[in-house]
Amino acid sequence: MALKITVIGTGYLGATHAAAMAELGFEVLGLDVVPEKIELLSSGRVPMYEPGLEELLAKHVAGIEGSTGRLRFTTSWEEVGAFGDVHFVCVNTPQKHGEYACDMSYVDAAFASLAPVVRGGSLVVGKSTVPVGSAERLSALLPEGVDLAWNPEFLREGFAVDDTLHPDRIVVGVRSERAEKLLREVYAGPVSEGSPFVVTDYPTAELVKTAANSFLATKISFINAMAEVCEAAGGDVAKLAEAIGHDERIGAKFLRAGIGFGGGCLPKDIRAFMARAGELGADQALTFLREIDSINMRRRAQMVSMTREALGVDSFLGKRVAVLGATFKPDSDDVRDSPALNVAGQIQLQGGQVTVYDPKGMENARRLFPTLVYADSALEAVRGADVVLHLTEWSEFRDLDPAELGEVASSRVVLDGRNTLDPVRWREAGWTYRAMGRPSA
Ligand code: UDX
Repeated sequence: MALKITVIGTGYLGATHAAAMAELGFEVLGLDVVPEKIELLSSGRVPMYEPGLEELLAKHVAGIEGSTGRLRFTTSWEEVGAFGDVHFVCVNTPQKHGEYACDMSYVDAAFASLAPVVRGGSLVVGKSTVPVGSAERLSALLPEGVDLAWNPEFLREGFAVDDTLHPDRIVVGVRSERAEKLLREVYAGPVSEGSPFVVTDYPTAELVKTAANSFLATKISFINAMAEVCEAAGGDVAKLAEAIGHDERIGAKFLRAGIGFGGGCLPKDIRAFMARAGELGADQALTFLREIDSINMRRRAQMVSMTREALGVDSFLGKRVAVLGATFKPDSDDVRDSPALNVAGQIQLQGGQVTVYDPKGMENARRLFPTLVYADSALEAVRGADVVLHLTEWSEFRDLDPAELGEVASSRVVLDGRNTLDPVRWREAGWTYRAMGRPSA
């Protein structure tokens, strides 16, 4: 009989995983402790913007016309315990307030609620990003006869559905052949299409995730460090990235210089990794990540300085600044640790009149930064602006008509914090175009 799967926690990771499991043909029950979320998901909707996710939910959620009915949601732990052969724990592990370490309270609470109801012989699979050593500790909380595996998730926001259905790799940290066998059954579809299946122990599986995110963060901060040198020496970081990216050992991806990385993952994962290495007495191994973090944060300050320079002023008082982009990356409505909003906030604090527009992130941005002014379109944000800052690389911004914007701007100065606008188009339309790490003309 086909395996029955539960997914605990229905954020980005859980909602996508649940829908993907249903797509792979399993009967799935998703659980969340927030009843409003369950209500929303049960009607095939999600509390965030993620391309393709609502369509996939609508295809499978029980009760929706024409759906397979394979996917249901609940708030009941008893129901989850009775239903599942395999339970995926997908809850959030945010950064602790005022500390580097991550907050394990949601994971701990999920295991505490699951342990008393889980059936003997079932498998619990952790997917949350956790400090190395967590799986070992959590396995002791499960009753005799219930096995644990750790199976980190590598999905990117904006590509969550595709990354889950066609993962680059599947990593499983297991302690028993049975756990491996069950997970091979769960992932038979993607594996048959070529996704590598890597079997490890618990600590290695946990570390693969933090190592991968640390490497990505390092790549971005490396190119941003090169941007700083280019700015000092008059070089062009975009050309430099292109040229070094042709070396296959380096690779062209994740070498886009700009205002740096944000979001709910990279910044908190490198910090939690440093905190955990400290606890393990291996802090020296990761001191370089402190530098990665500070290069990243410095880019935001550099964007503020560039804006001041472009305006030719010491103070932003009386200056109107248009900010294009609020989310931490395009194709998402996520504003967590968003470099764009951080820059907007700094300029406002220094007296600037900042107007922000983002294609999908306005609601979340308003909640986080209620004092900023928000416009309904890029054109409205730019109207009357003394300078335009391009801070999130939405394709909508790449496609803007610089001539049309030039008609409404007070002054034609654009600063590209993401290095994705076409300098030639903007300059031809009479704009002074400046980008991070690139020469001014
Ligand atoms: C990341 C990892 O990519 C993913 O594998 C993991 O599961 C979760 O964390 P995500 O947070 O969705 O995914 O964003 P990602 O696409 O990695 O981008 C992170 C940040 O880096 C964004 O703010 C983006 O704008 C920035 N970035 C990315 C750059 O500044 N330059 C680049 O070249 C690439």
